[in-house]
Parts: sequence; C-alpha cells; structure tokens
Amino acid sequence: MQKESFSDDTRTSVLVIHGPNLNFLGRREPEIYGRTTLARIDAQLAAAADKLGLAIESFQSNHEGGIVEKIQQAVGRHQALIINPAAYTHTSIAIRDALLLIDMPVVEVHLSNIAARESFRRRSVIADVVSGRIAGFGAHGYLMALEALAARLKAAQTPAAGGPRR
Ligand code: DQA
Repeated sequence: MQKESFSDDTRTSVLVIHGPNLNFLGRREPEIYGRTTLARIDAQLAAAADKLGLAIESFQSNHEGGIVEKIQQAVGRHQALIINPAAYTHTSIAIRDALLLIDMPVVEVHLSNIAARESFRRRSVIADVVSGRIAGFGAHGYLMALEALAARLKAAQTPAAGGPRR
C-alpha cells in the first residue's frame, strides 16, 4: 500500500490517507461502504492523478499514531491531502491537531453520508479544520476530492485568482 516518496518527481503531490478498517473495503459492510476494494480506489486515484498531472501517494493505517506521523511527514513532500480518518473522524483530537500543523488544502472524505447515520458518526472533530468534505458518494468521493484539490491547487498557482489558502 505505502509507496516510496517521489524524491525525483517534480509534480505537485497529493497524499491520500485511509484510516482504520478501510483495508477491508469491499468485504466490510458492503451495503454501507460498497464493494470497491481499497486497492481499486488507490488505482483509480493514481490513474486520475496522472491525467491531472499530479503525483499521488496512498497510505492506510489502523493506528492513530501512524496517521498522525504520516500527516506530519506530508510537510515538504506533498501539497494537498485527502483523508478518510474512518472511526477516528469522530474521536481523534490528535489527528485534528496534526491537520492544524500542515499548511495545505485538505479534503475529508467519507464513503457513507455520516450526517445520515448514527448520532456518534454525525460529529466530525476535523470538519472545521479541513477545506471541505465529500460524503455519501462511495468510492467516487475520492475522485471528486482529487478533482476539487486539483482545481484548488491550480487556483493557488494563479496569483490573480487569490482563492482561499486551505
Ligand atoms: C467512514 C464513516 C465512519 O463513521 C466509519 O467509522 C468508517 C468509514 C466512511 O467512509 O463512511 O470507518 O469514514
């Protein structure tokens, strides 16, 4: 899953972080999360990034600390982040604090529409520190997030556009 950093790659790079239990996508509660595997999502993201002229690295961890470290390591290596913190969405102040350390656009993605589920899933502790959220569109949501980030990064490179920083 985890690829080496693109040290000789000059393209703008997007990091994708998948949280706990998402390594079981395709088999895990498919009626909620769909039948697309994580490997397939990452392959689709890689193909889409290539078309957009972006580099991409995907990372999955079942550990809160691993996710925190990956976010910290994004500084200087990546220019944007897509994150589905999975269950940590609802609990992790450590992930929230790590997101506050990095100065780049961040899209929060959820396969399911967390606003329409159990009350404990309706609260995201990162919602107010990300650039935006895509939820409820299944695996396609990751591609939507990538497109949104590509547009945001492009706007940031155009001085006259003066869009939001994050
Ligand atoms: C999820 C929603 C979370 O509540 C849940 O714990 C997940 C996946 C989603 O993508 O819909 O693991 O983040």
